Amino acid sequence: MSPRRLPLVVVTASLPGDALSLAEGRARVRVVKVKAGDEGALARHLRKAEGAVVLLSHPVTARVLQACPHLRVVSNYAVGLDNVDLDAARRRGVRVTYTPDVLTEATADLAWALLLAVARRVVEGDRLVRRGRFRGWAPSLCLGMDLGGKTLGIVGMGRIGKAVARRALPFGMRVLYHNRRPLLPSEEAALGARFEELDRLLALSDVVSLHCPLTPETRHLLSAERLAAMKKGAILLNTARGPVVDEAALVRSLREGHLLGAGLDVYEREPALTPGLADLPNVVLLPHVGSAGRETRETMARMALADCLQVLEGREPDHPAV
Ligand code: DGY
Repeated sequence: MSPRRLPLVVVTASLPGDALSLAEGRARVRVVKVKAGDEGALARHLRKAEGAVVLLSHPVTARVLQACPHLRVVSNYAVGLDNVDLDAARRRGVRVTYTPDVLTEATADLAWALLLAVARRVVEGDRLVRRGRFRGWAPSLCLGMDLGGKTLGIVGMGRIGKAVARRALPFGMRVLYHNRRPLLPSEEAALGARFEELDRLLALSDVVSLHCPLTPETRHLLSAERLAAMKKGAILLNTARGPVVDEAALVRSLREGHLLGAGLDVYEREPALTPGLADLPNVVLLPHVGSAGRETRETMARMALADCLQVLEGREPDHPAV
């Protein structure tokens, strides 16, 4: 009897932790390296694969799916699914899985890290000390925004938005939120959060934090007009997806002093930055590390691999998107 042929799973980056051991005796795993945004390389690597574990920077487009006729499942190593053409996957009968819940708290922590860093000028202060420019305590050195009593506006009140809201209460911040659908009154009461229309939220908030998915409707949701409608001296945080913000307009707004500052973990043309952004002193820029807690990333890897293998074995994945 010929030995059972194991399905091929291609993983498009080396992942933290021991997730690959899940595949022992169940699949042949090939780990490859694909550059961000390189559709051609992705299609070449996945050509013979039945399963794929891909990163959010790898565009699983209709073209890629068409070039990979054996593909039965794509497991996205992320909660955001904007890099995967879900309709094309559905049409071709390719299952898609993702990694919800596990990264909620890590991402909310990072949004708060950015909030505190921008509001209290943590990175500017660090640079000043390292450059030998700290000449002693001074009443007006590195004055920033006090958070107590200020208003935090959350755009996108899903899992991560709610986790960000929960952290606001002990800081004494008032929470407004905007979402496609308002929460139940009981949830609003538990979070101490009030629904507002987007334009009112932008006008009323001292800090605006973005937590909506990237869809055709949310691309440039924060347009030049909306950025201008934000409260003068406010802070913008983006740990969602770069294209939700018109980054060139954001640079102008920060340069002109309309906004006090911004904390960004994601970029419109990631990993490229809009010219001028990195020259601004009042921004804190991180390399898309919202979910980068060690346990979080290791758990994400196990979830993605497990779901991929389950589909290849004819079972339902635990975290299906399609
Ligand atoms: C996600 O999973 O979508 C996050 O952006 C990863 O950090």
